[in-house]
Amino acid sequence: MTVTTSAPALEALKTLKRPDLFIGDGFVAGEWVSSSKTFPVYEPSTGQVLGPVADLTRADFVKAIESADKGYRKYSTTTTAHERSALLRKWYDLIIANKEDIGTILVLENGKTYAEAVGEVAYAASFVSWFAEEASRAYGDVIPSSMPNTTVLTLKQPVGVCGIITPWNFPAAMITRKIAPALAVGCSVVIKPPSETPYTAAALVKLAMEAGLPADVIHLVPTKDRDAATELCTSPIVKKISFTGSTNVGIHLSKLAMGTMKKISMELGGNAPFIVFDDADIDLAVQGAMVCKFRCSGQTCVCANRLFVHKKVAAEFTAKLVAEVEKLKVGYGLSKTTTQGPLVNKGGVEKVKAHIKDAVSKGAKLETGGSVPSDVNPNGFFIAPSILSGVTTEMVVARDETFGPLAPIFQFETEEEAVELANSTEFGLAGYFFSRDINRCLRVAASLECGLVGVNSGKISAAESPFGGVKQSGVGREGSMYGLAEYQIIKAVTIGNTNV
Ligand code: SIN
Repeated sequence: MTVTTSAPALEALKTLKRPDLFIGDGFVAGEWVSSSKTFPVYEPSTGQVLGPVADLTRADFVKAIESADKGYRKYSTTTTAHERSALLRKWYDLIIANKEDIGTILVLENGKTYAEAVGEVAYAASFVSWFAEEASRAYGDVIPSSMPNTTVLTLKQPVGVCGIITPWNFPAAMITRKIAPALAVGCSVVIKPPSETPYTAAALVKLAMEAGLPADVIHLVPTKDRDAATELCTSPIVKKISFTGSTNVGIHLSKLAMGTMKKISMELGGNAPFIVFDDADIDLAVQGAMVCKFRCSGQTCVCANRLFVHKKVAAEFTAKLVAEVEKLKVGYGLSKTTTQGPLVNKGGVEKVKAHIKDAVSKGAKLETGGSVPSDVNPNGFFIAPSILSGVTTEMVVARDETFGPLAPIFQFETEEEAVELANSTEFGLAGYFFSRDINRCLRVAASLECGLVGVNSGKISAAESPFGGVKQSGVGREGSMYGLAEYQIIKAVTIGNTNV
């Protein structure tokens, strides 16, 4: 493969304090594995190839899974929870010590701004420190028995080898949110990183090895071959699949995983409502919309996808949001002045344009954006942050997750109508609303059909808070005090004839 890495990317790679963190190989059975067959990773800001990455095969997955099985058996039985906690703590320290380098690699392959990328590395590390602490608190129970002379205990044990399939929008955080709890309880993992952003994953694995985690407990198998990766879902050795990505793929993987009754966690698509009531603090609502709509250029599962604004405050909210959006500076993620990076690929840009075209053709008004800014690299995957007003439920944007920087504004008149509109989707990941009325806050929070609700805030993601959806947004919870259980089984132990 001829690689013509862009000049700014080459310059950025030269600034790495640890150039050895930029790795295009997989990590299988304790060794870094290259391949004569590679796939290109593109830099979204230039459209140029950042580098070639080893395109591993089904045989590599089989080898990784077998090694992970041996690794799990030893790791789970020879380490204490406190030792695993200490290993995770060392990994956390190394991630933080290298956060600038990982951030630079992340910008190059994902496109998000440097500030966002370094913020994501800190967010990723927060899951490692959270689960380092949770590792020591994986308590079981003692249950009063209905039988005489009997004690019932529960043991919480590691589920075993875990297949981890992660997305490109959070190349660091979605790996740590899944593997830190797995490693904390004694599981081993085989990671299939996204083919758009495999370099960040490799840097994290390298640091995990430096932290002293056993070499056969973490495996990384980059591939472009989706069929090969399904080995994770069909192998009887793998006992758990954790996936973040689209609902269609999640359903497909879940069906495969059910062939051998694996435990699953599926963090899937969203179509988040964002409601502004007429009693809301409008400036706060605008601030919240900026945070949750334009993070990662609108490419998060929890991004507001449909903004429902009360008729009385719609004009004020729209004008203020337009003013804030027009302050955003679209550009190369490593430039200090950039506040919005590109989308991850051309398809992402096309989808935003198609949603705008459909809405405008049905009567919506494009308030701002809609085009490619004139001062960006024309080969990059850029689109200006955009706002539509006068949006109705007949438009595609009402049903489909845009996954881009487009804020469509609908109007409503009553609370019942807003809640009904918000819930009229098959998805149920995040929902947001703004109101000063405490009773309404409690009522609407209870009525929204989603796993995460932001009340008077656009920021809802944190290591301590359970993350996951309802309806077709998935099953399972990541992070928080519930995250460990996704990687454990509960074993009931009944001890009879105790004579106590
Ligand atoms: C996601 O978009 O999948 C994750 C977003 C988050 O953790 O906030």
